Amino acid sequence: MYNLLSKYLLIMFITFEGIDLSGKSTQAKLLYEYLKEKKKKVIIVREPGGTGISEKIRNILLDKKNFNMKYITEFLLFSASRYQLTEEIIKPHLKRGYYVICDRYYDSSTAYQGYGGEIDISIINKVNKIATGNLIPDLSFLIDISYKENLKRRERMKKSHDRIEQKEISYYTKVINGYRAIAKKDKRFKVLDGTKPISDLQKEIIKLIFKK
Ligand SMILES: Nc1ncnc2c1ncn2[C@@H]1O[C@H](COP(=O)(O)OP(=O)(O)OP(=O)(O)O)[C@@H](O)[C@H]1O
Ligand SMILES: [Mg+2]
Repeated sequence: MYNLLSKYLLIMFITFEGIDLSGKSTQAKLLYEYLKEKKKKVIIVREPGGTGISEKIRNILLDKKNFNMKYITEFLLFSASRYQLTEEIIKPHLKRGYYVICDRYYDSSTAYQGYGGEIDISIINKVNKIATGNLIPDLSFLIDISYKENLKRRERMKKSHDRIEQKEISYYTKVINGYRAIAKKDKRFKVLDGTKPISDLQKEIIKLIFKK
């Protein structure tokens, strides 16, 4: 319903997807600042998190002490956090005519727990529908980088890894290929080359939004 409404009211639900360090938060923030400057009503939220309950779930998900967490547990925790964020923040803002920018949404579960964790994609799709009340983004950006680029950025940032980032190369390869497969199947996706300069990517994103 919100997606239908958005076509008439020009409200927009925009998500950023891609593996760790691909540049999602950088671009989400730049877009937020751009829309703010244009005096648009806009909010930015991140996944997992974005509400009091969801942030608590985020801490469980990223805690290195939870090394024994199973993929299904992980998936259901992400989904629980997502439902709370969707109902408490995203839907009410879309209803009030806001642009909502979301740094990761359900496609992350399809890519990480589905393609990466090898949970049956049909189960992932069903739970995703429940966890979002069937709310589909109007536009999703996949910022695509290779595993090598991810490693390069990690080295540069001297970033310590959280629980999910500690996983090995074979897992990341599955996630990267999974994201590409998801984007190929769905017209709402625009795939961006994440190795391009930050400002070039921002220009591309703005162009694509206003074209839509
Ligand atoms: N186009 C780009 N080219 C080179 N470096 C970039 C680019 N975009 C972002 N970066 C850098 O890569 C690092 C990660 O960026 P960012 O935090 O936006 O990624 P992310 O996808 O949100 O990561 P995470 O999934 O870990 O939250 C930062 O140091 C950022 O400055
Ligand atoms: Mg980020």
